[in-house]
Amino acid sequence: MTASNPSRELAGLPVDSRYWPVGRHHEVLKRSLSDIEGFWTDVASQLSWQRQWDQTLQWDPPFAKWFVGGMLNASHNCVDRHADSQRKDKIAYLWEGEPGDRRVMTYGELYNEVNTFAATLQDLGLRRGDRITLYMPMVPEFPIALLAASRIGAIFTVVFSGFSAAALSGRINDSGSKMLITADGSYRRGKIIPLKDIADEALRSSPSIEKVIVYKRLEKETELQRGRDVWWHDAVQGKSHFVPPEPLDASHPLFILYTSGTTGKPKGAVHSTGGYLTYVYATQKWVFDIRPEDVYWCTADIGWITGHSYVVFGPLAHGATSIMYEGTPDYPSTERWWEIIERYKATILYTTPTAIRSLMRSGDDLPRRHDLTSLRLLGTVGEPINPAAWEWYFDVIGGKRSPIVDTWWQTETGGILISASPNLGLVPLKPGSATFPLPGIDAEIVNEDGKPVQNGEKGFLVIRKPWPGMFMTLYNDSERYKQVYWNRFQDMYYPGDYAVKDADGYFWLLGRADEVLKVSGHRLGTIEVEDALVGHPAVTEAAVAGRADSVKGEGIIVFVTLKPDYKPSDALRQELREKVRNTIGPIATPDEIYFTGSLPKTRSGKIMRRVVKAVASGIEIGDITTLEDESSVEEVQKAMATFTRQIE
Ligand code: WT7
Repeated sequence: MTASNPSRELAGLPVDSRYWPVGRHHEVLKRSLSDIEGFWTDVASQLSWQRQWDQTLQWDPPFAKWFVGGMLNASHNCVDRHADSQRKDKIAYLWEGEPGDRRVMTYGELYNEVNTFAATLQDLGLRRGDRITLYMPMVPEFPIALLAASRIGAIFTVVFSGFSAAALSGRINDSGSKMLITADGSYRRGKIIPLKDIADEALRSSPSIEKVIVYKRLEKETELQRGRDVWWHDAVQGKSHFVPPEPLDASHPLFILYTSGTTGKPKGAVHSTGGYLTYVYATQKWVFDIRPEDVYWCTADIGWITGHSYVVFGPLAHGATSIMYEGTPDYPSTERWWEIIERYKATILYTTPTAIRSLMRSGDDLPRRHDLTSLRLLGTVGEPINPAAWEWYFDVIGGKRSPIVDTWWQTETGGILISASPNLGLVPLKPGSATFPLPGIDAEIVNEDGKPVQNGEKGFLVIRKPWPGMFMTLYNDSERYKQVYWNRFQDMYYPGDYAVKDADGYFWLLGRADEVLKVSGHRLGTIEVEDALVGHPAVTEAAVAGRADSVKGEGIIVFVTLKPDYKPSDALRQELREKVRNTIGPIATPDEIYFTGSLPKTRSGKIMRRVVKAVASGIEIGDITTLEDESSVEEVQKAMATFTRQIE
C-alpha cells in the first residue's frame, strides 16, 4: 500500500483528492474478522431499535440468527427517524417518469404516504406475517408500499414487472400471498406495458390472492374485478392516520425475493429485518460513502435485490436523497440518463456494466453535451466489467475524477460483499477487479477440496463466516438451502462463482461456476429456459447455453430436438421464442435457436453441457477436451463432432 492518493495509481490519471485515507480498508477488515460479534454490535447500534438484542449472533450452521431478542421496524428506521428530525423537508426521492412527468417526495411526505398506505393494508385485512406480492412499475408508490408492508410486519415479495404472468403466478403461489399490489400499467420505451392485464392472467392460477390494489399510472380503461380489486386512490380515502410501527423480531422476515438457480423452480431467498437492515445501512455508507448533501442514483429496478437494498432500504436508512427513474436509458434517446444527471446534479451513479456498454455504443458526444461534473463516485454491479467499459465510464462519465466501485454480491447476500470502499479508505483500483472483501466478510478462494488456492489460481469463491445481510433460508425449503449453498464445502457459504486473487490479493470475479446465466446482469437458470421450451408441443428436448455478448454479457443460445411430426422452420423458431418470453419474460428471449437431430449425451444419458456451451460459443474440439467433464476426452470429442455436424 502506498501513502499517495490511491486513485492516482489509475494509470496516472489525475484524481480529485476528496477521497479518504489509504489502507484503512484492510485495517478495518482485519479488526472486524477478529471480533465479528463486537464489530456488528457497533454497526447495528447505529440503527434505532425498539428492544435491545440479548445475543449478537446465534450461529447454528448453516442457520444464522442475528441480534437475537432485538426488536425493530424497517419503516421506522427508514422514514420516522427522518420525518421526526430536521430532515423532515429533505427530499427522499426525485422521481422522473419516462414521459417526462416529475415528482418530488420529502421524508415528511413519505411518512404521510407510508402511514396512510399501512392503514389501508390493515383495513383490507393484511396482518403481520402475511405475504404480499408487488408487481409494480418504478413509481414512488413502489417504495411506499414496501415500507407500509414492513411497518405492519407483512412480508413482501416483489416480482420484477418484466416477468411474465406465469412467473408472477408461480411466485405468488410459492409465497402464498394473499394480496397483490400492481398498477394499470407502465411506460417502457414509449410503449405501454399492461401490468394489470398480465396480473389478471396470473391470478387465474393464483387463488390465494384475496385483494388486489391497483395504482393508476396510465390514462387507460382498466377493468376491476368487483370484490377483489380496488384502485389505490380509492382504497386510501380517509386513511390518513398514524400507524405505529410494529416492533418485530430481528429475524422476522422482511421480504422474500425469488432468484434463479439450477432447477426450473426459482428459489425464494428469505431476508431478515434486523440483519438485513444493518447490512444495507453499513454498506451504503462504506461503498457509496453516502453524505447528507449527496444526490444518489442507483438505476436498478426495485424488482431486483439491487433496488431493494440500494434504491429503498440503504439510502432511506441514511435519510439520503435518491433519484428514481421509471424508464429505460435509451428513451427517447440515449441522452436520457445524462440529462437526468445534469438536471438533478447527481453525485453518485450506480449501474450495470450492460448499461454502460450499451450507452458507450452511442459514443462520447452525447454525454459530453451535458454537465456531469456533479458526479463524484461511480459504481457497477451484476456482472464483471470489461476494462474498455470501465475506462469509458471512468473517463467520459466520471471525468477521471470519480472512483469506480465494482461491487460483487448476490440476491442471497442482501448487500455488497466485495468492493472498494471510498469511505473506509480507497484502495488503488484495477479495472475489472472488485478489489477486497468489506469488513466482516471472510471471503476466500478454494479448490474442489475446500482448501485455499494460491494467489493466481482460479477456484471457487466461499464466505467462511456469516454476516448480517445473509439470507436466512429459502422459503419453505430449508433442505434446498442447505443443499445448494452449504453442502459443497463444510460450513462455508458457496455463492456459485469462480474467482481468482492476483498477486496483490485483489479479488477478480470470473462468472458462474454453475448452470446459471447472467444476461444483462440478470440471473437466469439454463434449466428454466429449457423447461419453458419443453413446454412447447413440438419440442422433445432442449439444451441452453450462454455465449459471450459484447453488450449483454451473455446471450442465450438454444438447441432443440423436435418431435417426429414437426419440421424446423422460422415460424417454429418464432413460436419457441414467444414460448420462452411468455413463460419467463422478455429478459429470457433466446438470441439464437438451432434445431438438431440429437443432443450430445454421456453414456449414462446426461446432456454434456460443456459440449453444448462450446458449440454455442464456437469453441474448437481441441479446446474443449481440456475442460472438466465427467466423460472421457474421446467421448467428448465424438459428441462434439456429431453435434456440430447435426446442427441445422
Ligand atoms: C451473481 C448474482 C447483486 C445484485 C445484482 C445481481 C454476478 C454480481 C458482480 C460483479 C462479477 C458479479 C455473480 C453473482 N455478479 N456482481 N461486480 N462482478 N460478477 O444479483 O441476480 O443475485 O446475481 O451476479 O455471478 O453470483 P443476482
